[in-house]
Amino acid sequence: MKGKTSTKVHTRSKDVGATCSHKKATYTWELKVAADSDVEPTVAQLSGHMNDQQRAVFKDKLERYVIKPDRDLLLAKRGGQVLGLVCVIERAEFPSSLRKHAADLLLKFACTTQLLVHPHLRKQGIGKSLQLQAEQWARERSKEGLWLVTHRMAYWYQSHFGYKEVDRIKVKNTEKIVMAEEF
Ligand SMILES: CC(C)(COP(=O)(O)OP(=O)(O)OC[C@H]1O[C@@H](n2cnc3c(N)ncnc32)[C@H](O)[C@@H]1OP(=O)(O)O)[C@@H](O)C(=O)NCCC(=O)NCCS
Repeated sequence: MKGKTSTKVHTRSKDVGATCSHKKATYTWELKVAADSDVEPTVAQLSGHMNDQQRAVFKDKLERYVIKPDRDLLLAKRGGQVLGLVCVIERAEFPSSLRKHAADLLLKFACTTQLLVHPHLRKQGIGKSLQLQAEQWARERSKEGLWLVTHRMAYWYQSHFGYKEVDRIKVKNTEKIVMAEEF
């Protein structure tokens, strides 16, 4: 049943306080598959940078990821606080301009979209834990790899997760990079 799979608890030491302080606090979060009841708080807590129209599209997307059986919304949570999310889908529709060699390669790959961590909580390992959980999700479904489209974070996916560029596409006049990792 969707929304019931609670997974790992992550713990990370974090510097807190003034810049010259080295006091440590323990920072923990849980990764889980979202349930219906998670959508409203997720939208409320992670859409601060969106306008109303973007927020409506975001909510609609998250609802589909919660409901449909071929995809999930994975959340990083601490208590009632939603720290970050990533969407995972078993087989996403390819961008229309994706070239054949890339489409052939990605045929049996799952896809992630919308990796997002709350702006105040970045650089603490939350994004990495969500991305690794998405990879685990794909492996559990016997997928051969994972692909995604990015505008500015290609180097991050390459350096931290070993993704490789498989194509470049134009989306509304912006060049984006299709990255993939084969398991
Ligand atoms: C990209 C994003 C998800 C990263 O989340 P995060 O929680 O800050 O990432 P982590 O703390 O797990 O970072 C993992 C590593 O990447 C590094 N890192 C994080 N953000 C980075 C950035 N913008 N540029 C370069 N390195 C970065 C961290 O320092 C850390 O390095 P380490 O493992 O050597 O210590 C977050 O910045 C975000 O939500 N950005 C806006 C949306 C976005 O760009 N999403 C990507 C979709 S294409």
